[in-house]
Amino acid sequence: MANDVLLQMTDICKQFPGVKALDGVSLTVRRGTVHALMGENGAGKSTLMKCLFGIYEKNSGTIELEGKEVNFKTSKEALENGVAMVHQELNQALKRTVMENLWLGRYPLKFANCIDEKKMYKDSLALFEKLGVHVNPRTVMSTMPVSQRQMVEIAKAVSYDAKVIVFDEPTSSLTETEVEHLFRIINMLRDQGCGIIYISHKMEEILRISDDVTIMRDGQWIATEPASQLTMEKIIKLMVGRELTNRFPPKTNTPGEVALEVEGLTAMYSHVCDVSFRLRKGEILGIAGLDGSGRTEVLENIFGIATRKSGTLRLDGREVHNRRATESIKNGFALLTEERRATGIFGILNIRENTVISSLKKYLKGGLLSEKEMKKDTDWAIQAMRIKTPTQETKIRSLSGGNQQKVILGRWLLTDPEVLLLDEPTRGIDVGAKYEIYQLIIDLACRGKAVIMVSSEMPELLGVCDRILVMSGGRLAGEVDAANTSQEEIMTLAAKYA
Ligand SMILES: Nc1ncnc2c1ncn2[C@@H]1O[C@H](COP(=O)(O)OP(=O)(O)OP(=O)(O)O)[C@@H](O)[C@H]1O
Ligand SMILES: [Mg+2]
Repeated sequence: MANDVLLQMTDICKQFPGVKALDGVSLTVRRGTVHALMGENGAGKSTLMKCLFGIYEKNSGTIELEGKEVNFKTSKEALENGVAMVHQELNQALKRTVMENLWLGRYPLKFANCIDEKKMYKDSLALFEKLGVHVNPRTVMSTMPVSQRQMVEIAKAVSYDAKVIVFDEPTSSLTETEVEHLFRIINMLRDQGCGIIYISHKMEEILRISDDVTIMRDGQWIATEPASQLTMEKIIKLMVGRELTNRFPPKTNTPGEVALEVEGLTAMYSHVCDVSFRLRKGEILGIAGLDGSGRTEVLENIFGIATRKSGTLRLDGREVHNRRATESIKNGFALLTEERRATGIFGILNIRENTVISSLKKYLKGGLLSEKEMKKDTDWAIQAMRIKTPTQETKIRSLSGGNQQKVILGRWLLTDPEVLLLDEPTRGIDVGAKYEIYQLIIDLACRGKAVIMVSSEMPELLGVCDRILVMSGGRLAGEVDAANTSQEEIMTLAAKYA
């Protein structure tokens, strides 16, 4: 049974203006297995799946589902024929309720074409019960955290009783507990004989959940191997095309005098309480902790997009209030938010516009914006982070997910802040490009900037930071020296008040 071919994609090609996104890619998914799809940002993973799902029309190649050739023209057609997809970019009606989102386009009807709200509610509950999801179907989407919205999206895909389900980076905004939950759902679907296609940049996840792994590079198929025969090093080599000996650049920054002093920071609307620390110029300070420990909230309170109840901030010895984002930016702060894809992207603008939008003042020359300077800085961002794009004039929404992230990071780096607050800066970024981002962060510190970095990836904190603060239950549980600590020590501190 497990050797049954469920889905066969052969020699798929897809050309966008100026980009050959897919160049003869093949993929074989067996029934009752999880097939991981891996590759650098812009390798073509999402595009391949969108060709399957009827969002893009492939230029050539064939797709067979259970031995029959298919060629879906719309996602509706794909869904009706047993293919469902959880997208990399959440695309939900945020003002609507959970159940309206779940059954959008297929509302149960009563007489006279009225929507049968009761049935919709009951069906939603039954679905959530089957999947163990605890969400009230009547909740308005926008009031829920992204991770729960993501779980709704996952439940929706499962509700179609599809044979093939594509998960395009489903865990990038899930908490650890939710990731475990998703894995239980995926295992259940696998046991029912579904074929799961799983896209992720998280190596540990891939090795844990998948049966087969296909690796793509620059729109081409590179290899397909059983997960049991692969190691992290081997996957990286296949993805990047060369040996990546060091995952972290050498640390060349030296912390100097104190830049920022945070004293007794207590939040009005979250459990963050009495957080005090100092940050030096040229220092990279990590914040570790479990999900919900208040890491993101600390950054939001410093930057003034969450309300402080008490506490003071001093920059270079002078008190700053940072009551709102505009004031904080003026004071020399920048915040790269965790939800940047939802909140940071101006989809209809091009890459240059998206890059320079937060530092327009810098480009003003005699009342006009200097096109030349903007071009130069955008070029810098494209090269420094290897943003994969044909031109600066390309619309940001036609970039791959990871490359969009890089543009937003570039935007904040260009505001030339004194204090840079980074929330999960490498989320959704491939292993190779992570190195470049670490290098940029270290370069900034070398130039005397002060950096705070929140991350759930422990190796990243250990590899890039000078010091690490550990949060637990909204409080500071301790501080460690990154060069002389261990994951165990950090985990113990993280559990202190949890
Ligand atoms: N609608 C589009 N118009 C033009 N180019 C596109 C479009 N969609 C994708 N591309 C290009 O196709 C290539 C592959 O993109 P794709 O989104 O498939 O990458 P990916 O492997 O999913 O990367 P990531 O890990 O960053 O999500 C990229 O160079 C991207 O810029
Ligand atoms: Mg993608």
